[in-house]
Amino acid sequence: MSGGALLQLRDVWRRFAVRRGLWAERALLTAVAGVDMSLRAGESLGLVGESGCGKSTLGRMACGLLSPSEGQVLFDGRPLPPAGPGSTAAGRVQMVFQDPFSSLNPRWRVGTSVEEPLCRDKSLSKAERTARVADMFSRVGLAGLERRYPHEFSGGQRQRIAVARALITRPDVIICDEPVSALDASVQAQVLNLLRDVQEDFGPAYLFISHDLSVVSFMCPRVAVMYLGRLVEEGPRERLLRSPAHPYTQALVAAMPSADGLSLNAAPAGGELPSPLALPPGCTFHPRCARATDACRNEAPNWRTLEDGWRVRCHHPSV
Ligand SMILES: Nc1ncnc2c1ncn2[C@@H]1O[C@H](COP(=O)(O)OP(=O)(O)OP(=O)(O)O)[C@@H](O)[C@H]1O
Ligand code: SF4
Ligand SMILES: [Mg+2]
Repeated sequence: MSGGALLQLRDVWRRFAVRRGLWAERALLTAVAGVDMSLRAGESLGLVGESGCGKSTLGRMACGLLSPSEGQVLFDGRPLPPAGPGSTAAGRVQMVFQDPFSSLNPRWRVGTSVEEPLCRDKSLSKAERTARVADMFSRVGLAGLERRYPHEFSGGQRQRIAVARALITRPDVIICDEPVSALDASVQAQVLNLLRDVQEDFGPAYLFISHDLSVVSFMCPRVAVMYLGRLVEEGPRERLLRSPAHPYTQALVAAMPSADGLSLNAAPAGGELPSPLALPPGCTFHPRCARATDACRNEAPNWRTLEDGWRVRCHHPSV
């Protein structure tokens, strides 16, 4: 799955040293546990999984905001340097967060926030930057509003401005981390459609992160499912939605709202997500899996390819 990859994660791990209580010893929490993933130019890959499974940690490593404890993140075949003003990859991999305030300075006019990533490009004059910002504001449906402040906009409009800021350097990859989770349902579709439209215009690849499989499958032809820091299934959305092979993917599909808006299951899977401080042995999903056998409790499953581009990590997949 790595041929022609623009962004590639190779056996990427991320651990955090945490304390369980004020006086407790530090323990190591494994947020991401050996992920291989690749993204081709212009494609959209969805990453789905429940809260705390490591999606944001993975997204932050994929754009250089966080370094892996082990493994490699490659951009265009070369190690991705840490994000920052001096970074050689600055501008080529951008991120849109759940909360647009995290990328907009409340004291700056929104036009200044959108222009700021362009200032690193010394070949552009002030007039060229201003023209690009004005053009970007009209593309996201906010023509002429550059001189206003973030608090003068609604949540959906602020997210449009965050999209404008992410796009202004014409990046090759945009990591979208729960970009519509904080928005009202009525506004979510507008922002998702905007993200699809700008992809047609500008052609960036998306790594689209959400806990909501319906949002991810609306946006992305290819979907990866994450559980406790690991990918457990990856494939075309039609396959995952119609015939999910991994019991966890099956639980996510069952929890999706039906056409009448009712969800069959409120929770994606029965039982609590185990603590990433004490990962279960064998298959980490076994404490919640109705299909678990002794093999599952003792031995971590390896990847199995079901079809070209569709793989699952389970001892007893439904196929
Ligand atoms: N800086 C940090 N220090 C310590 N633990 C962290 C840190 N960042 C994340 N974690 C832990 O790593 C695990 C994965 O967190 P992460 O935010 O990546 O999950 P997520 O899938 O994005 O969740 P959500 O859907 O709630 O955003 C969690 O247990 C979290 O508490
Ligand atoms: S490996 Fe076993 S426990 Fe894990 S998901 Fe598959 S059947 Fe369930
Ligand atoms: Mg997150």
